Amino acid sequence: MRTRTWGCASSAWASARSSTPDHVKAAAIRAIEAGETKYTPVNGTPELRAAIAGKLRVRHGLECTDAQITVGGGAKQVVFLALMATLDEGDEVIVPAPYWVSYPDMVCANDGTPVIVDCPETDGFKLTPERLGAALTARTRWVVLNTPGNPTGSAYTVGEVSKSGSPTVRSRMVSPGS
Ligand SMILES: Cc1ncc(COP(=O)(O)O)c(C=O)c1O
Repeated sequence: MRTRTWGCASSAWASARSSTPDHVKAAAIRAIEAGETKYTPVNGTPELRAAIAGKLRVRHGLECTDAQITVGGGAKQVVFLALMATLDEGDEVIVPAPYWVSYPDMVCANDGTPVIVDCPETDGFKLTPERLGAALTARTRWVVLNTPGNPTGSAYTVGEVSKSGSPTVRSRMVSPGS
C-alpha cells in the first residue's frame, strides 16, 4: 500500500459576519450571464483545477498535478466521501480532541471507529507525536489533523506536520493512491 499525506482546503465563507467579496460576486454574475449554468465535471472544471494548482504553486510552493486536485461542495463532503471510499468496518480514525463536531459521526456513519485522543491546552491543543504513537494500531487508517483548528484555533507548524507523516505513521495509513 502506498502512503501519502492528504490535504483538504476549504474556501467556504461560513461566518455570518463576513459577506462574499465584491470581485467574487461580480465574477459569479459574469459567469451566469455568459451561460455557465450547466452541469460541470464533479471534480471541478479544468479551469478551476488549474487555477487551484496555480495558487498552490505561487502561494505555497507546492507542485500538484491535475489528478491530485478535486473540488467538492465543502470540506465535510470531501472528507466524508474519502472515508466512505476507504474505510472497512472496524477501521480506526484518530480524531484529536477538541475536534470539529462532525468528524466522529462521519467516521461512524462509514462503519469506522473514531479514536478520540485528548490534546490538552498544555500541549497547545495539538496532537503530539507521543500521543499519536500511543493511539496508533494496526487498524488505524486516518488521522484527522485540522489546522488551524476549530474550535481551538491552534495551528501546526510544517515541522509538526512532517513528524505526524513520519514513515512509521504513514506505513499504517490509508493512501488515496492505494
Ligand atoms: C474544522 C472544520 N471542519 C469542517 C467544517 C465544515 O466545512 P464545510 O462547510 O466546508 O463542509 C468547518 C466549518 O467551519 C470546520 O471548521
